[in-house]
Amino acid sequence: MAREYRAEDWDRYKMDYKRPHAEIEPAAREIAVVADALEALRSAGVIGHTDYDREKFAAHRRAVAEHFEVPWTAITPRMQRLLYALGAIVRPANLIAAGVFCGNTFISSAGAAVGPGACYEAAALIGVEIKPDEAARAERNVRRIDPTGVARVVAEDAVETARHFPGDIGLLYLDADGAGGRGKGVYLDILRAAWDKVPPGGVICAHNSVNSADRLAEYLAFVRDPAHCRASVNVALDPEGLEVSMK
Ligand SMILES: C[S@@+](CC[C@H](N)C(=O)[O-])C[C@H]1O[C@@H](n2cnc3c(N)ncnc32)[C@H](O)[C@@H]1O
Repeated sequence: MAREYRAEDWDRYKMDYKRPHAEIEPAAREIAVVADALEALRSAGVIGHTDYDREKFAAHRRAVAEHFEVPWTAITPRMQRLLYALGAIVRPANLIAAGVFCGNTFISSAGAAVGPGACYEAAALIGVEIKPDEAARAERNVRRIDPTGVARVVAEDAVETARHFPGDIGLLYLDADGAGGRGKGVYLDILRAAWDKVPPGGVICAHNSVNSADRLAEYLAFVRDPAHCRASVNVALDPEGLEVSMK
């Protein structure tokens, strides 16, 4: 069943893409909105609880602000917190993040397992970026806060990465756009390639579920079909949105 969480100010909460670390609301408000979103996901059955370590998240955020080169990003502070919390709650051994650009999206989830925000041990956290130059920058960024190599970035088409991944994919994050003329249609291609490796209970997150809802119509219809996913929630906490689904 399709469900939705919509923050009262989702369309007024706007960031400057070129100032990724600028505060746009008091911390208490950001924490409260994300707590409400997590509670909507918990009550829909997508996640089992809503707890995450706020101090560790703050350490993660500081490390990214200090060490990452981010030319621009559409990941708002609310979205960064939500992605970190989902990583910390789902605790996937293996994660694939598709279309990571400079790595800011990827590390928001992976930061729950590597770097100063780490709260569990993962096996393989793979960020995938089809443009080699962007992949190289993302890998440089990630290496600055994760010397272990558990989180790493590969330059590849995420459809191929998903198709050939050798293990279970506990969390799949979709944000690929703009290559090969497929636009956001590639989300469904990547999900289909990964599908057999996403175990029951695995979580799938799709960025831009609000501002690209038209272009994602086929993808959204797929994950909102109970024959495919047990639960799916459109989290509209900012103008971009995140569809969070559980297989
Ligand atoms: C819009 S950017 C994501 C930016 C992210 N939302 C942020 O705000 O930081 C999408 C990225 O997906 C990459 N991409 C497109 N198709 C892809 C594919 N098939 N596999 C991997 N990456 C892909 C593009 O090169 C681009 O860097």
